[in-house]
Amino acid sequence: MGTFLTLEGLDGCGKSTQAVLLARWLEDYTGRESVRTYEPGGWNGGEKLREILLHTNLAPKSELFLFMSDRSEHVMRVINPALKADKNVLCERYTDSSVAYQSGGHGLKFEYVVKIMKAGHFLEPDITIFYDIEPEHAFKRLRERQGHDRFEDAGLTFLKRVSYTYRRLAKLNDRIKLIKVDDLNVVQVYEKTIEIIKNSCVLFK
Ligand code: TYD
Repeated sequence: MGTFLTLEGLDGCGKSTQAVLLARWLEDYTGRESVRTYEPGGWNGGEKLREILLHTNLAPKSELFLFMSDRSEHVMRVINPALKADKNVLCERYTDSSVAYQSGGHGLKFEYVVKIMKAGHFLEPDITIFYDIEPEHAFKRLRERQGHDRFEDAGLTFLKRVSYTYRRLAKLNDRIKLIKVDDLNVVQVYEKTIEIIKNSCVLFK
């Protein structure tokens, strides 16, 4: 079995940049192929669901269950087969995003979303790196970016609630390793991530 790693954090925290670097490092370090993927929509055909999720105003519960449908396809079609083929999987966003955004961001009860995630019986990541950026900092970065989706347009208060929920999740789960990224450059974040992954002994299963 390969190792299942997830990356989490507010939009603008630098996940995607790190994902590219880490996928390469994982291949060099473990000698196993890396599969880099993402949610929502990281499966063949998933772009339609991604389009709906990122650009339609949905009721929070509808949104939650659509993210779960997307995840279900993603696990079955991409994540599970790759892990079984001894590849490492590096996924941007997963169940913690659903808790952080659908409860923290969109107001569903924390306990309710956590329970729904458990009921979904999704494959549990071996390790999750949470890039913790101050919401004000993330907001500033997002405003400088082009092509906003509706989550990115939701504003600073929204980001603060999502951030609070991510931090709450990190306190409750050993699986989630928090890295404060505000004062670090890309290379420093990368080096810290590698150190944490090595120390957590989740590779070479
Ligand atoms: P994306 O453009 O992939 O954002 P980023 O580059 O910041 O990862 O958009 C994904 C958006 O979907 C992001 O704002 C968070 C949201 N999301 C949820 O609300 N719930 C979920 O379960 C997932 C996976 C994502």
